[in-house]
Amino acid sequence: MRGARLAGGVSRRYAPAMLENDVFLRALRREPTPYTPVWLMRQAGRYLPEYNATRAKAGSFLALAKTPSLATEVTLQPLERFPLDAAILFSDILTIPDAMGLGLHFAGGEGPRFERTTADENSIAALKVPDMSALRYVFDAVREIKRALKGRVPLIGFAGSPFTLACYMIEGAGSPDFASVRRMAHGRPDLLQRLVAVNARAVAAYLNEQIEAGVDAVMIFDTWGGLLTTDAYHAFSLDSMRTVLAALRPGPDGREIPAIVFTKGGGQWLDAIAACGAACVGLDWTVDLAAARRRVGDRVALQGNLDPLVLLADAEAVARETMAVVRAAGAAPGHIFNLGHGIVPATPPDNVAVLVDTVHRESRAVRAETRGVL
Ligand code: CP3
Repeated sequence: MRGARLAGGVSRRYAPAMLENDVFLRALRREPTPYTPVWLMRQAGRYLPEYNATRAKAGSFLALAKTPSLATEVTLQPLERFPLDAAILFSDILTIPDAMGLGLHFAGGEGPRFERTTADENSIAALKVPDMSALRYVFDAVREIKRALKGRVPLIGFAGSPFTLACYMIEGAGSPDFASVRRMAHGRPDLLQRLVAVNARAVAAYLNEQIEAGVDAVMIFDTWGGLLTTDAYHAFSLDSMRTVLAALRPGPDGREIPAIVFTKGGGQWLDAIAACGAACVGLDWTVDLAAARRRVGDRVALQGNLDPLVLLADAEAVARETMAVVRAAGAAPGHIFNLGHGIVPATPPDNVAVLVDTVHRESRAVRAETRGVL
């Protein structure tokens, strides 16, 4: 029995979607896996020369994201280089506010910028859940990526958290501290609540369309929830993510779609996040992974949490720090290796190869040691 489990690959019980490699999905369900699955936030991106070439061909980041054939091409690029255990839809969290009519731009290397903001009573009252047909390019990309993957690995769909989307919608761009959002949380909580509630309905509809189009798991990126006070985090971020998760439907073939929730800077709220209805909690690099596992027990899978800047060091340091994360997670089922945040553009691709190889090798060794059959 153990042999069948260790063999990995297709197993009828574990691969209802007929995937060649479903180790990522099994880890999300906290089932035993022969090794620790690994994928990386922003695995398709500017550290890859082939990504830069496709983006140049598209003309801009947004044109790339809005053209399903090109989004498919860049989604698959990292999988051609590295034996990653999951693909992630190439898109952006800001597609939703763009579809709400806020006018999204990415000014040359500067990050996102909106033409209009939703920072006052009138603009927030006027806000509506966008018609999902405005986001059809995303669902078309999901279908095309699924066809191109041919069942090699699962595909992750994603959205921003209702609160993180609100941050960009209020500020109109990125910000180191989102001061205007925090001011609203304290001064006009009613307004922020209304904005977050509309976003929660939009995010749920958006993820359900991605599920209908074929994604195998979903992830909610709460990049800025960690800026909030504990009370405000619960009121504006966690509660709205719980609402989204409760509204998610099963996949077209009836299977449950596991969700990953990632609040950057949310380590101190781990217990509450682990109880929000997600199968897995993403951790940033500041969290002690071994302590996190002890705290949540076997309630959820954990994803993370190598500091992305380790990838700027030499190969030896990459291997050493990667091994430390694998060992901190231990042999208990339910760890998905990832970075603690997105890969940075200066990352040498060769270091990513070292990381992926080290995760696979070291996690097999940890399992063998625990079984005492080295
Ligand atoms: O992970 C992947 O490979 C999938 C693609 C993906 C992108 N953005 C592509 C992208 C995902 C999952 C995102 C999520 C996203 N987008 C988040 C949440 C995750 C996080 O990093 O915290 C946020 C906050 C955004 C908003 C956003 N998009 C910002 C702030 C920026 C500029 C920052 C930067 O890196 O330049 C983007 C642009 C963006 N999204 C790029 C990519 C590959 C770079 C744009 C380019 O190619 O010029």
